[in-house]
Amino acid sequence: MRIVLLGPPGAGKGTQGERLARELGLKRLVTGDMLREAVAKGTELGKKAKEYMERGELVPDELILAMMREALAGADKFLLDGFPRNLAQAEALDRMLGEMGLDLTHVLLLDVPDEEIVRRLTARRVCPRCGAVYNLITNPPKEDGKCDRCGAELVQRPDDTEEVVRKRLEVYKAQTEPLVDYYSKKGLLVRVNGVGSLDEVYERIRAALS
Ligand code: AP5
Repeated sequence: MRIVLLGPPGAGKGTQGERLARELGLKRLVTGDMLREAVAKGTELGKKAKEYMERGELVPDELILAMMREALAGADKFLLDGFPRNLAQAEALDRMLGEMGLDLTHVLLLDVPDEEIVRRLTARRVCPRCGAVYNLITNPPKEDGKCDRCGAELVQRPDDTEEVVRKRLEVYKAQTEPLVDYYSKKGLLVRVNGVGSLDEVYERIRAALS
């Protein structure tokens, strides 16, 4: 399977994508995580991407496409989370896959209303060491402020303040939402209701793939 996980910020792409990729044996490529790692390491890409990310804007296409071309090389079963994010990226992905003799098998759209997104993201905490994702309301760590998996101190992403979350939602509607139409026309899009418990949403995703 070659899946694109589409949906607004905070829809649950990371949470569901991690489990799905693990259970289906797919390579998981998460552009947000790749960029955050580049920022943390202070690479050239990280230095260029940082200010866009902090403002909730998209990082320029040429940086993303170079990063994804490298990441996709040799992959034949994968799940993409956070890419493509606009029409130019979607068309570039089609070209890259065409060169590899591959195509997408599914595009899953996780649907979640705006106010639920603001609630989720302002309560999200992440582990800077192992990448585990929590939510103070719906999925809190067992011990306050500590990662269940590795014990590191949890942090809030700098782009998870209410102001930046609202900006990210605007950017999603203007630049990413047109992909719903793009992939519907190709007959690849399946809508999944992203509201419910983690297991309920996961079961809907599995049903959508079968
Ligand atoms: P990125 O990291 O991709 O952010 P995003 O798309 O905004 O997605 P998130 O990671 O915020 O949310 P998610 O859908 O993964 O939700 P999660 O599972 O964590 O991008 C960050 C930035 O990088 C962008 O703004 C941009 O600058 C740049 N960038 C990245 N890709 C790019 C590209 N291709 N081109 C250009 N720029 C790019 O869940 C969220 C919270 O909700 C968690 O706390 C979780 O526990 C909770 N939760 C999950 N599911 C449920 C549920 N069912 N019920 C209740 N709570 C839930």
